[in-house]
Amino acid sequence: MSDSAFKVLEILQRTDAPVSGETISSELGVTRSAVWKNIKELCQMGYDIQSSQKEGYKLLYSSTKLLPYEIQKNLETRVIGSSLRYFDHTPSTNSMGKQLCAEGDPGRFHGTVIIAEEQTGGVGRMGRAWISPAGGIWITIILKPHVPVDHIFMITMAGSLAVARAIRKEFGLGALIKWPNDILIGKKKIGGLLLEMAAEADTVHYCLLGIGIDVNNPVKDFAADLQRDITSISVEVGHEVDRASFLARILKEFENRYLLVESGEYETITQEWKSLSATLENHVQIRTLKNSFEGEAIDIDEFGALIVRKDNGKLERVVAGDCYQQ
Ligand code: BTN
Repeated sequence: MSDSAFKVLEILQRTDAPVSGETISSELGVTRSAVWKNIKELCQMGYDIQSSQKEGYKLLYSSTKLLPYEIQKNLETRVIGSSLRYFDHTPSTNSMGKQLCAEGDPGRFHGTVIIAEEQTGGVGRMGRAWISPAGGIWITIILKPHVPVDHIFMITMAGSLAVARAIRKEFGLGALIKWPNDILIGKKKIGGLLLEMAAEADTVHYCLLGIGIDVNNPVKDFAADLQRDITSISVEVGHEVDRASFLARILKEFENRYLLVESGEYETITQEWKSLSATLENHVQIRTLKNSFEGEAIDIDEFGALIVRKDNGKLERVVAGDCYQQ
């Protein structure tokens, strides 16, 4: 959104009454035709503005898009989301993040959130395709973390906790986390996280925390073979929801926990993760790149590894892999 359109929007949002073009143009020190151009820009972005020659402009509805301004209105963070980059379409917000960081000095993008209404080439774990139609939340948070490489999974855990907590607080749904990074409602997946990082020896250059959540998506949005296993917020609550305030809440919940990770309070993160785990105390089947086995998920350690008591009684520590459970 241009700066001038943003200023016009601020004026319209101050009141429920119509505001004349003249009032806006004299407050902003611009011509009335410039105001008209800004009104057109706002309408194109999805704001519904009634205009009458006699009375002026009246804002009827705010946009339902995930526009930065709509998120900022509710945002209570200090760093996460301090810069919001919005795209109508992009192949993948994670690849956008990689491109940005490749420009050099990833530190200057720390806290930047990349938002897309739709992704045309969304990526999930293990390089799988991630279907990302309009209505969901598809974002990437760029981080330059002060976290040792061996504890980097704590950032995914902080992200999963943020999403699960935000769903609980905003919509009263019993969201849980399935190891390593799925968000579930009951047995159905509603979201997932993907952490990618650039590191050398024990130095992390940057991390990209991708978060995908099905929000205002009807079941028909999902591939036919997935419809049984996937759900969305609107399907669960029975109506569409305000994505912008939900996203602002996720970012706040994430910032709180990210700060804990940076200050080495891994135990606090692990304890909360355990309390929202859909995996612990369940019989699981684990598939890693090397092998596949079954057992009971009994714990998670301070690095985020899953501890499984195999059917033969031996304990196995799983750092990465797919986890299947009933
Ligand atoms: C998973 O496999 O469960 C993780 C899915 C992560 C998807 C998100 S959507 C925003 C970001 N951009 C991507 O291309 N992927 C992540």
